Amino acid sequence: MKTEIVICLGSSCFSRGSKKTIQLIKDYIKNNKLEDQVYFHGNHCSGNCANGPVIKINGKEYSNISSDNIISLLNTTLKKN
Ligand code: FES
Repeated sequence: MKTEIVICLGSSCFSRGSKKTIQLIKDYIKNNKLEDQVYFHGNHCSGNCANGPVIKINGKEYSNISSDNIISLLNTTLKKN
């Protein structure tokens, strides 16, 4: 089963730096050759802007995602699958 990663592309999360996180996730997938295992895409605002930027991994929402914590989150969540 593919791991689904959804990043919020809403304006609030975007202004809080989700663009950099998107690039880091893309690089991570590429560097670890996870293209076949991960479905990464964007979505609209989920209404959780106050805790943004937010991403969802297999339906579980993670908040306050930044370039500082995204890699460890990916390491933790993708290793489990
Ligand atoms: S803009 Fe991302 S949750 Fe609202």
